[in-house]
Amino acid sequence: MMSDEANETNRLAVLISGRGSNMLALARAVREGAIPNAQIAVVVSDRASAPGLKLAAEQGIATLVVERRGRAREEHEREIIAALRARRVDLVCLAGYMRLLSPVFVEAYRWRTLNIHPSLLPAFPGLDAQRQALEHGVKWTGCTVHFVDETLDGGPIIEQRVVPVLDSDTVETLAARILAEEHKAYPAAVARVLRGDFQVIGRRVVAKSR
Ligand code: GRF
Repeated sequence: MMSDEANETNRLAVLISGRGSNMLALARAVREGAIPNAQIAVVVSDRASAPGLKLAAEQGIATLVVERRGRAREEHEREIIAALRARRVDLVCLAGYMRLLSPVFVEAYRWRTLNIHPSLLPAFPGLDAQRQALEHGVKWTGCTVHFVDETLDGGPIIEQRVVPVLDSDTVETLAARILAEEHKAYPAAVARVLRGDFQVIGRRVVAKSR
């Protein structure tokens, strides 16, 4: 449980830049109780054109656009942080948010910011992870949910799911197979973090010792 009061609802923010399918998977998990005792307080996009904004609004979720265009990273982030604080957000879920976060944001929500990445990190960080995996020739890939730190896709790993790479795969078919696992992995990771039944030893996120 992350919130102060035992029975208080955990307030999530989901940050997006595009399609929003992981955001929808989180919304469904909250609705169906797979992420218990939580609500999505706001979906924030750094692009007004993100299709996920409309999907969130259709679910009755509050949305906010904080345009990145033409603004310094830290100034942009300070506006997002202020918006999250105003909404008393406990946990931030990056879901296809395409701007690297500066230490200002990482520090403000350390251990309270999660990201999902479509590869088995530390393999294939950065852009086009599915294409990187296909072109490298790996036989297995997958997705990773991790805490966000100052590194690119490098924070401690909470959850991973594995999928095969088939001889017949294109980037599109492989990405679709990974995405189906992302939609399960992200809710599972969020539920675990909110339960708080883990400890971090070095880089390892492991069960709490009794
Ligand atoms: C996902 O593949 C996620 O792993 C990556 O960006 C993509 C976002 O997709 N970080 P969506 O917007 O959640 O549909």
